[in-house]
Formats: sequence, C-alpha cells, structure tokens
Amino acid sequence: MDALTLLHSRNSAPKLCEPAPEGEALDAMFKAAFRAPDHAWLRPWRFLTIRGDGRHQLGQLFIKATQQRRQQAGEPAMTPEDIDKLAAKPLRAPLIITVIATIKEHPKVPAVEQVISAGCAAHGLLLAAHAQGFAGVWRTGSNAFDATVMQGLGLQPNEEIVGFLYLGSVDGNYKPLRELALDDFRQDWTAPAQ
Ligand SMILES: Cc1cc2nc3c(=O)[nH]c(=O)nc-3n(C[C@H](O)[C@H](O)[C@H](O)COP(=O)(O)O)c2cc1C
Repeated sequence: MDALTLLHSRNSAPKLCEPAPEGEALDAMFKAAFRAPDHAWLRPWRFLTIRGDGRHQLGQLFIKATQQRRQQAGEPAMTPEDIDKLAAKPLRAPLIITVIATIKEHPKVPAVEQVISAGCAAHGLLLAAHAQGFAGVWRTGSNAFDATVMQGLGLQPNEEIVGFLYLGSVDGNYKPLRELALDDFRQDWTAPAQ
C-alpha cells in the first residue's frame, strides 16, 4: 500500500478479533508512534499494552471506577447487567494499547502541545496497524478521565490517558468511508483591507 492510500483509507473497526499485531508488527507500530512530531524532543508519551487476563483486570478497574462515580453522584448502583456489560468492554479486542501523555515542565512547550504529540503517536500506532493489515479503534469515555482508573494503571500526577486503542483484525466489514468536501474545511487567508 502506498503512503497516500494508507493515509486516505485508515478506518476504525469497532468489531475486532484475533490476531492482534504482535512481535515485529507491534514493534513497527511503536516505531511509527515514535515519529510523532514532538516540540523540544520531550518524548511526552508512554504506552501500556494490555492483553489476555490484563483485559479482565482492566474491566474490573472500569467497574470499580464507575461504581465510585455513581455513588459520588448519588446515582443508583449498577445492575448486574450493567456490570457484565462493563466487564466485557475491554474484551472487544485482543490487544489494547493505553496511550499516556507524560507531561513535562518546559518553558516553551505547554501541556497542550505534549498531549497533542501523544495524540499524534496514537495516530501513528493506528496507521501502522492499518499498513500491516490490522485494524483498531481509539476509545476514551468517562473511564479514561477517572482518577481511580489512572491510579490503577499506575499513572503519575503529571500523566493523562489520551486513549485506549483497541487493536486486532477487522471482524466483518469496514464501514464505508465518508468523503468530505475539501472546501468545507479550508479557506485561503489574507489580512482584511484596512
Ligand atoms: C480522542 C478520541 C476519543 C474517542 N473516543 C471514542 C469512544 O470512546 N467511543 C467511540 O465509539 N469512538 C471514540 N472515538 C472515535 C473513534 O475512534 C473513530 O474516530 C470514529 O468512530 C470515526 O471513525 P473513523 O476514525 O474511522 O472515521 C474517539 C476518537 C478520538 C480521537
């Protein structure tokens, strides 16, 4: 696949199955992530690979965090069906990569630039997965921003979850890609006459 075809055809796949990228394929994905633009070479990211039983443990963490959030908000406790549904969420893919922005103090590089850089790294992972015939989808949701989840995953106070990348092989068909009109999103700019 040539580079432009790859860039034009990446498509999220919510339904994923085995095999997941592993070994050299996974290494190639991380090498692509490490090419993310990065102001001042801060390397403001790190990644947790979660597979096998780790996905069950992640599900339990999501349950604990959601129960606490609901309790704090005075909402009713989750039903057993809610709990089963949440436990099954991380099982939707054979591999999950948690992309973490590790924000460093820097006089010229604000936190937002570092989070963007980590987002570019996440995109690099997805593109390199696609280049090798694998598929994925970037997810967040309330649990990505939850202190209990962050703590359970070992995040430090200067870290944020940028996303959970669910990865594997596409199960079924890809959705059709929607064409966007270029001119809906770009304008030529010159300064208005004074
Ligand atoms: C930061 C971020 C968080 C996202 N979180 C979710 C999510 O929690 N659930 C979801 O269904 N899609 C989420 N998405 C959107 C999907 O990853 C995907 O972009 C969307 O389904 C459109 O598909 P496409 O990327 O193939 O066009 C998120 C995207 C981004 C960039």
